[in-house]
Amino acid sequence: MAKHHPLGVDIGGSGIKGAPVDLDAGAFAKDRLRIDTPKESTPDAVTDIVLDIAKHFQSATGDSPIGVTVPGVVTRGLVRTAANIDKSWIGTDVAALIGSKLDRAVTVVNDADAAGVGELHYGAARNVEGLVVLATLGTGIGTALLDHGRLIPNSELGHLEIDGIDAETRASSLARETEDLSWEEWSGRLQRYFAHVEDLLWPDLIVVGGGVSKHAEQYLPLLHLRAPIVAAQLGNAAGIVGAAWLAANG
Ligand code: BGC
Repeated sequence: MAKHHPLGVDIGGSGIKGAPVDLDAGAFAKDRLRIDTPKESTPDAVTDIVLDIAKHFQSATGDSPIGVTVPGVVTRGLVRTAANIDKSWIGTDVAALIGSKLDRAVTVVNDADAAGVGELHYGAARNVEGLVVLATLGTGIGTALLDHGRLIPNSELGHLEIDGIDAETRASSLARETEDLSWEEWSGRLQRYFAHVEDLLWPDLIVVGGGVSKHAEQYLPLLHLRAPIVAAQLGNAAGIVGAAWLAANG
């Protein structure tokens, strides 16, 4: 019988993406499936899509655990904030909701924290002595703090205020797209943001994740920081890989 793999599912503002993850390789065991996030991105509507994704990968995953990421703070299994998704997520016990429809263990984690765990075990944050700050630049800015190999969850540094403005509204990848910023213009904003983060936390390494990490050569060389700043090695897959790792390893 083929080996079963845990399933990682990344719930985002525009798409819900999932794949079985081969934890020996730290990579997808099958091609990722992406389904558009419904307009009304309520927990019930999104759960239906997570169930479709689980069904799609049934033969590769069997009854293996599922790791699910959400774009908000998660404490003791409850979603606590929802900056870029439907506000009805606040207070939702996502594992209980999905678990009520599917008899499988479900772990829920903040999306950037999941990406941090993916990079910690298989990517740029592996074997780093000291503090790593990972920032995912997407619809918002998510952050993960990894100190000597341990995740400090729910850091939410995307919402640092710079000049009185929530940083993610200026420096996210979405801000670059909607304001049609050149790489130079956007990197000016990133410089301001990461210099501020660095002054507060003094990380040993900064890792940039999210879809835009694949264009890292356009903007990372323009940044001048004390700590080295590198692109996530798993790119946009880091969240799914990290979620599956957490589901399997607790
Ligand atoms: C949320 C974070 C999330 C990030 C990326 C932010 O607006 O507050 O929890 O990690 O977006 O999705």
